[in-house]
Amino acid sequence: MIPWAKPDYYGYEKKYINQALKSSWLSDGKFVKDLENKVCKFVNSKFAISVTNCTSAIHLSYLALGLKRGDEIIIPGYGYLAAANIALQMELKPVFADVDQETFCVTSKSIEKKITKRTKLIIVFSTYGNICDLDAIIKIAKNKKICVLEDAAESFGSTYKNKKSGTLTDIGTYSFQATKTITTGEGGMVVTNKDKNFIAKLKSYRSHGVKDKRYYHYFPGHNFRLTNIQAAIGCAQLKKINEIIIKRKKIYNSYFNFFKNIEGLKLQMFTPKVKPVVWTFAIVLDPKAFIDRDKVMKIMKTKGIETRNGFYSPNLLPLYKKFQISNLINAETLSKNIICLPFYTSIKEREIEYISKTLLSLKR
Ligand SMILES: Cc1ncc(COP(=O)(O)O)c(C=O)c1O
Repeated sequence: MIPWAKPDYYGYEKKYINQALKSSWLSDGKFVKDLENKVCKFVNSKFAISVTNCTSAIHLSYLALGLKRGDEIIIPGYGYLAAANIALQMELKPVFADVDQETFCVTSKSIEKKITKRTKLIIVFSTYGNICDLDAIIKIAKNKKICVLEDAAESFGSTYKNKKSGTLTDIGTYSFQATKTITTGEGGMVVTNKDKNFIAKLKSYRSHGVKDKRYYHYFPGHNFRLTNIQAAIGCAQLKKINEIIIKRKKIYNSYFNFFKNIEGLKLQMFTPKVKPVVWTFAIVLDPKAFIDRDKVMKIMKTKGIETRNGFYSPNLLPLYKKFQISNLINAETLSKNIICLPFYTSIKEREIEYISKTLLSLKR
């Protein structure tokens, strides 16, 4: 079976894990600080705080922003719904905005329509490595004095006007889960250039609301700390980030050459401002040209190829029914018709060819 994703290692993982083990620092430790410093340097951010995963990075950001029950958060209608799930847990109100059919990212127009007096945060997703039209979104947010969080879980290394994804708005969050561009198994990070007060809150909520005095709790915080062993893996991966990016770009180009100019399918569009490091190769299948997307996935599986469907738009999930979601037409179309193809740095050219030809053979 060709897996949809797979973590690859680049030579330093075992060495760094052994160093972490020998150091006897398993929880906090040198690699945790190293990873935070190196991520700051790589993305050019003032501050980075490592956490257990991207979901906790988002949760931590909501807490440090002081979001309260009933506050509204605008969330893209297409994407992995971690930001919305945490909103539900904190009794915040997710307000979903539709995305663009071509880029799969939320648009400034659909965000603008959803802003009310209660809007406290705008979330943007950098879906599959793409970055939305942030110039326009940031302008709207600044006018209304609303904070913007870029959930860059899927776009580590992507750039928008030569700035790294995650650093373009007030707060950025990354995922280092096993399928991501760099991994720590499970892991994540918050990056921000916000003020010291906000940074102190991030640090404190990460560790049970403790600040300067041990066992003295200022806030009802969490334990969202990344371990030293996980950070050791992250440091090893980050050391090879340039190689990883080159490989991912090459894989993207190989797929692109098979699928460009083919009728009956649509590829994700990237504007000239964006240089993506793609997480997966997503294709929108036209139901008139292809047999049903889910059947395509099943047949691909019988041929030894694991694929992924698109994210469910929230209007298709009973969990979100009570939020009276309307106008997620593009998100729903993407949900039903997207197929994501295997994408990891050790995938072979002949495997890409086999995957591409197998998919194309399923045209009606
Ligand atoms: C956009 C987005 N946000 C959040 C997450 C959650 O990340 P994690 O699994 O690190 O919590 C993901 C996971 O794929 C994601 O794609």
